[in-house]
Amino acid sequence: MSPGGAAPAPGGEPGLRSRSWLAGDDEVAVLHRVALASAGLRVSQRADRPVIGIANSASDLNPCNLPLRDLVGPVRDGIEAAGGIGAEFPTISLGEDLMKPTAMLYRNLLSIEIEEMVRSNPLDGLVILANCDKSVPGALMGAISANIPTVLVTGGARGVARFRGAPVGTGTGLWRLWDERRASRLDDAGWYELERCLSCGTGACNTMGTASTMAVLSEVLGLMVPGSSSIPAGDPRSAAVARQAGQVAVQAVIAARRPQSVLTGAAFANAIVALHAIGGSSNAVIHLAAMAGRAGVPFRLDDIARLGTNVGVLVDVQPSGSGLMQDFDAAGGVPSLLRELSSRLDLAALNVAGQSVGHVAAAARQAGAAIRPASAPLHEGGAFGVLRGLLAPDGAIIKTSAASAGLLRHRGPAVVFHGYDDMLARIDDPDLPVSAGSVLVLAGCGPVGVPGMPEWGMIPIPARLLEAGVTDMVRVTDARMSGTSFGTVVLHVAPEAAVGGPLALVEDGDMISVNVPAGAIELEVSEDEIARRRAAWTPPEPIHLRGWPALYARHVTQAPLGCDLDFLRAPTAALREFIEPVIGRS
Ligand code: FES
Repeated sequence: MSPGGAAPAPGGEPGLRSRSWLAGDDEVAVLHRVALASAGLRVSQRADRPVIGIANSASDLNPCNLPLRDLVGPVRDGIEAAGGIGAEFPTISLGEDLMKPTAMLYRNLLSIEIEEMVRSNPLDGLVILANCDKSVPGALMGAISANIPTVLVTGGARGVARFRGAPVGTGTGLWRLWDERRASRLDDAGWYELERCLSCGTGACNTMGTASTMAVLSEVLGLMVPGSSSIPAGDPRSAAVARQAGQVAVQAVIAARRPQSVLTGAAFANAIVALHAIGGSSNAVIHLAAMAGRAGVPFRLDDIARLGTNVGVLVDVQPSGSGLMQDFDAAGGVPSLLRELSSRLDLAALNVAGQSVGHVAAAARQAGAAIRPASAPLHEGGAFGVLRGLLAPDGAIIKTSAASAGLLRHRGPAVVFHGYDDMLARIDDPDLPVSAGSVLVLAGCGPVGVPGMPEWGMIPIPARLLEAGVTDMVRVTDARMSGTSFGTVVLHVAPEAAVGGPLALVEDGDMISVNVPAGAIELEVSEDEIARRRAAWTPPEPIHLRGWPALYARHVTQAPLGCDLDFLRAPTAALREFIEPVIGRS
């Protein structure tokens, strides 16, 4: 049965789009109201209450999102208290721990799900419940395209594991202890003891990984209740904030505050400044590019470098610092960070509640210990560098705040791995011709090469070098790395090897030079030799994919455009990139 005429397009005329389904006394309106009544949602013939979708991504397969289960009720209460109707619906749950090859493969699918659920249902606004890495950007990308008023609620960071008396940051601590084990400094008993310690409840990684980074940036962008992005999982404040988010969603519908009006160039510029200041995840660069692409806001990789030049890393949280998200929250969270960054921000940018960044910053308390004063940063000159050159014509990034200062200018011979399996098979080979000065190259792991662009970029230090005390090396790859990872790793090299980028042409022994302060990465091979190799290069055998991965591989863009699908970017964005100035202030 398919009654009724065409529904209004998301983001269409002002007023309640749900009225097109629910108002009136004909048989179609009756059918629609009865459908909602079956879920306990009573709608009058006037249909004058905003219907707010509660997009819930809680799942047993995703421990990071499980705290969201407890927040549906408070969100619904807030919606009803403000005069709306809350309608919960499930979404796919993108959990980084279990999904293979990577949850990133499904980020764009989640965005389509949200956009199409809005398009096809009587929804006037959205509250998104999301937490783990790709859940937040995926859902927000869909909300931006749907362009109905949207508020994000996250579930917070999980409790802190302690191993032999010391706190272990999620991800970061495990990666460090895995290196200890590979170097034979952590025995079986210790390793099994660690596993027991790490089971310490639900919630996101408690380091400044991708989930925490995207929560913080979403708050800075204006899509969350101020002060809410850092509240730990299980904290009693969570329910109050969830209730407030429900109220804000109804008010945003009444005020017609849509994502595309909140997410301006100024909002993205503020987010980039904040990304540097928190020493956030490198993945956020890709997600911001994708979100800007959906909003039709011009976004260039070079904006990352330009806007970070005079921004210090202020937040002392792993992997750039030493604390955990609980420390950032205790220090005042995003509002106190905004206060500290005031001179670097566009204070006029408005959030979904209609408050300016300046207002939120002025109302914030003085930052605590985990947020350094701007005059005494953890690292000078931002958290990221953008590199270009023969090896990365369209750019690459490096998280300088989690790299070794002594390796930011480096020249060394390449040791090349073509794909993850090749790397795993040979990295610990005692005969691998590698030294501490080598440059490890992992090619073939970009968004097309391995659909989803897995977080394989933190190439392990060869065991023989680890045992000799080497803790970092220069690494270059077209893959991503976890936001909880660290090391001198040049990431997201574009174009990637699988589409014929120069990374595909590197051979063992080629000299590679990296100069991060100068923004340069070079392959010291003559043009004639490069031309010879290119002529001999054959594209990798096409992977025989079906279903979603096949569609993804055909349409995914390279990292500087956010790894979105080409047909999902705002139609205006592709045009504006070439004719409009870059975002932000000079
Ligand atoms: Fe889900 Fe880190 S794995 S937040």
